[in-house]
Amino acid sequence: MDLGITGKVAVVSASTSGIGLGIAKALAAEGATVVISGRRESLAKEIAATIPGAIGIGVDLTSPTGPNDLIDAVEAMHDSIDILVLNSGGPKPGTAAALTDDDLTVAVNLLVRPQRQLIERVLPGMRERKWGRIIAVGSSGIVAPLSNLAASNIGRAALSGLLKTLANEVGADGVTCNMVLPGRIDTDRIQQLDSLAAERQGKAVEAVRDGSKAAIPVGRYGTIEEFGATAAFLASQQAAYITGSQIRVDGGLIPVY
Ligand SMILES: NC(=O)c1ccc[n+]([C@@H]2O[C@H](COP(=O)([O-])OP(=O)(O)OC[C@H]3O[C@@H](n4cnc5c(N)ncnc54)[C@H](OP(=O)(O)O)[C@@H]3O)[C@@H](O)[C@H]2O)c1
Repeated sequence: MDLGITGKVAVVSASTSGIGLGIAKALAAEGATVVISGRRESLAKEIAATIPGAIGIGVDLTSPTGPNDLIDAVEAMHDSIDILVLNSGGPKPGTAAALTDDDLTVAVNLLVRPQRQLIERVLPGMRERKWGRIIAVGSSGIVAPLSNLAASNIGRAALSGLLKTLANEVGADGVTCNMVLPGRIDTDRIQQLDSLAAERQGKAVEAVRDGSKAAIPVGRYGTIEEFGATAAFLASQQAAYITGSQIRVDGGLIPVY
C-alpha cells in the first residue's frame, strides 16, 4: 500500500534510538523526508546520513528553548512541516506514594511541555495547508496505569488529554491527532527497566523478561519496526478519518478492549 506521504516533511522528536528511530525509519521508507533528533547530535547526524534526504539535529527537549530550536533548525531547511511525531525520553520509575513535587515538574517537563511547544510551532502551518498529522508516543499505562511508574502514568495521561482536546479543535482543518501506545517494545529503555526490576526483585534479568513475556498474549516483546509501521499508517493519506484515537501496539498486554 502506498501511504501517500512521499515528500512530506516529518519531524520525529527523540529519534536517535528505540521507538522514535523505528518510526522515523518507517516514515522514510514511505518517502517522507525525516528529521532525526535527540541529545546525541553526532548520532542524529550519523543516522540521518544513512537515510536519503534525512537531516539530523541535536536537541535537548527538556531545555527551555529545545523544542523551538528544533523547529527553527528544520524551518531553515524546509518550508513546511507536515508530520509531527511527539516522542521523548521516559521518567524514572517510582511509586505514587513517594512522588514529590519535583517529580511532577520533571514529568511535565518531559512529557507535556516540549510536546505542547512543538505543536504550537507546527500547527498554524498545518491548518493553513489543510493537512497535518500529529502522532504522539504514549504508553499502555494510559489505559492501565503501570506499577512503579507513577510519574510516567501522570505525564502521559496529561499528554493524552492535550491530544484528544486538540483533535476536536483541528479535525475540520485536515489535521489529525492520535497516539500510539507501546506495551513492551524491545528498546534500551525497556532493557534498563528490566535491569532495575531484576535488581529490586533479586532476580536475573532474563527471569524478569520471561515473566513479562508470559503476561503478553503474543508471547514476546514487540519490535520498533512493528511500532513504526503503525505510526506510519497514522501519518498516511488513508488515515485521514482516524483522529482523537489511541492505538495500542502491545501484543494484547492490556486485558480489556
Ligand atoms: N519501549 C516501550 O515498550 C515503551 C513502553 C511504554 C512507554 N515507552 C515510552 O516511549 C518513549 C520512547 O521509549 P524507548 O523505549 O524508545 O526509549 P529509548 O530507547 O530509551 O529511546 C529514547 C529516545 O529519546 C531520546 N531522548 C531522551 N531524552 C531526551 C531529551 N531530553 N531530549 C531529546 N531527546 C531525548 C533519546 O535520544 P538521546 O539520548 O540522543 O537524547 C532516544 O532517542 C519513552 O518516553 C518511553 O518511556 C516505551
